[in-house]
Amino acid sequence: MAIIWTRELCTEIDEIDQQHERLVDYINQLEGAIKQQNRALVGQVLDELVDYTLSHFAFEESLLEEAGYKLTKPHKAVHEMFVKRVAKYQDKHNDGENIAEQLLGMLGTWLIHHIKRDDMAYVAEVRGSICAIVEDRKEGNWLSRSLGQFFR
Ligand SMILES: [Fe+2]
Ligand SMILES: [Fe+2]
Repeated sequence: MAIIWTRELCTEIDEIDQQHERLVDYINQLEGAIKQQNRALVGQVLDELVDYTLSHFAFEESLLEEAGYKLTKPHKAVHEMFVKRVAKYQDKHNDGENIAEQLLGMLGTWLIHHIKRDDMAYVAEVRGSICAIVEDRKEGNWLSRSLGQFFR
């Protein structure tokens, strides 16, 4: 079942919400590719999803560091574990195993859980600094630098 974007997933940090929404989009695209039984497309969406996830994590971690969030390190560790888990699935897919359905279930559950629990936790704690960082729209500010650095 497709993931529906709801208010519950909204951090109200625009850049983060846009990125999360795009991740949800990729997961839904993956579901579409599985339904079509299009193995090549599954592989392609999976590659794009992994790529985008890495960019999002790097951006988010950099934001947390910039904001001085005290749980940045454990948050990074959670991201890292997830990346490893997905890489294992990706290897299996590339080896010809049929893991797409299983992966899809894991991705949906993980992402929703992570946003609602771990990501929401930093929003509550560092909202003030994040607002200042995000609202600083001057050229060469942290936000434009980081978006340019992490997203192609
Ligand atoms: Fe996160
Ligand atoms: Fe996130």
